[in-house]
Amino acid sequence: MDHFLYRDGALFAEDVPVSEIAAQVGTPFYCYSTATFERHFRLFDEALEGTDHLICYAMKAASNQAILKTLAALGAGMDVVSGGEYARAKAAGVPGDRIVFSGVGKTYDEIHAALTGGIRQFNVESEPEMAVINKVALELGVRAPITVRVNPDVDAKTHAKIATGKSENKFGIPISRAREVYAHAASLPGLEVIGIDVHIGSQLTQLEPFRLAYEKVAALTEELRADGHNIKRLDLGGGLGIPYERSNEAPPLPVEYGAMVKETLGHLNCEIEIEPGRLIAGNAGIMVSKVIYVKEGEDRKFMIVDGAMNDLIRPAMYEAHHDIVPVVEAEPGTEPQAYDIVGPVCETGDTFAKARNMSPVAPDDLIAFRSAGAYGAVMASEYNTRPLIPEVLVNGDQFAVIRRRPTFDEMINRDTIPEWL
Ligand code: LLP
Repeated sequence: MDHFLYRDGALFAEDVPVSEIAAQVGTPFYCYSTATFERHFRLFDEALEGTDHLICYAMKAASNQAILKTLAALGAGMDVVSGGEYARAKAAGVPGDRIVFSGVGKTYDEIHAALTGGIRQFNVESEPEMAVINKVALELGVRAPITVRVNPDVDAKTHAKIATGKSENKFGIPISRAREVYAHAASLPGLEVIGIDVHIGSQLTQLEPFRLAYEKVAALTEELRADGHNIKRLDLGGGLGIPYERSNEAPPLPVEYGAMVKETLGHLNCEIEIEPGRLIAGNAGIMVSKVIYVKEGEDRKFMIVDGAMNDLIRPAMYEAHHDIVPVVEAEPGTEPQAYDIVGPVCETGDTFAKARNMSPVAPDDLIAFRSAGAYGAVMASEYNTRPLIPEVLVNGDQFAVIRRRPTFDEMINRDTIPEWL
């Protein structure tokens, strides 16, 4: 459930008409709902009630400072995957002991910054990385808390580009080698081994792959404890999917996920960490765009809108479906028409939907792409010298621009001209 609902045929973000924001901010733009962020965070929190847990929001999904502050105020930790994300989390006031550092290629500088600024743990992805973390920790005279990300070799049954838990993927160390790698970690004086990490992929629409992975983690916990390691924390990653196509998708709910976590891992008395991104942010955001033209092709109608693949790349990159709805609903009984909904970028891939049934639209009508809060704004680019679009946060009957649209001059003036020109 989210807080983008129609009132008398007009789409609202919480208590604000979306058309009012469009009139003030211009299109296209991202619009987020505070109440939806909060609701989704609480669903996970409640799902894990009774277990010692921390929800580390995977901020790669949507990392605007205002969003981070909204979640941090509820007690969220952050899962970061770069020095930039670490800096963003700190800038939003998240304490270091609530920040976990994931990612396959942490550099010396990133590790140094995190160890200096404070970190809950590094989720280590390889032995060479382990060696660098050990080295930096010794240089700083500290011990770095670590888990090792194990790759459980399970099929997440999701899009190939976002599956991470099969042995062919670049992530983690094979679970079959875990005992050997943990023994090595324990021998390094700059490291403190505290737990196990696993993340098998994103947009999972079934619980079974999670269950298989977590059962393997449970068995490994017992083995590693028997080997003398102090395994007290399990980081279970993110990945729970959301209904992108509301009419026919119903992925498992956080409460069902939480029950399965307790069932598979509860007996181990470990602190549980999860790293949800999409489920918290996805349906907390929409992208609002304006129709520029309707063009009659030979056998189809093109709806050409002012948002494009550079603003929301998911359809072009993953063939992802986003529900697309009018900001002002048509009169009941209006016959829908099939549109190819496309942006103005000079690529055929700049297509959001093909033969999508919508009520008829005319130039200047507003449309909204639903479920665009996660991996939307953060994956945008300035391709075709299109400015990064603004982000707006709604809270009840208030809204604020939380990132403004840059001017063309600002974009152009970031380039510098060498002396010889
Ligand atoms: N933890 C780790 C280590 C991850 O790699 C990810 C996502 C998450 C947590 C959060 O997963 P979530 O709960 O959001 O599924 N750009 C793609 C999604 C890439 C996900 C990458 N890793 C998309 O637009 O679908």
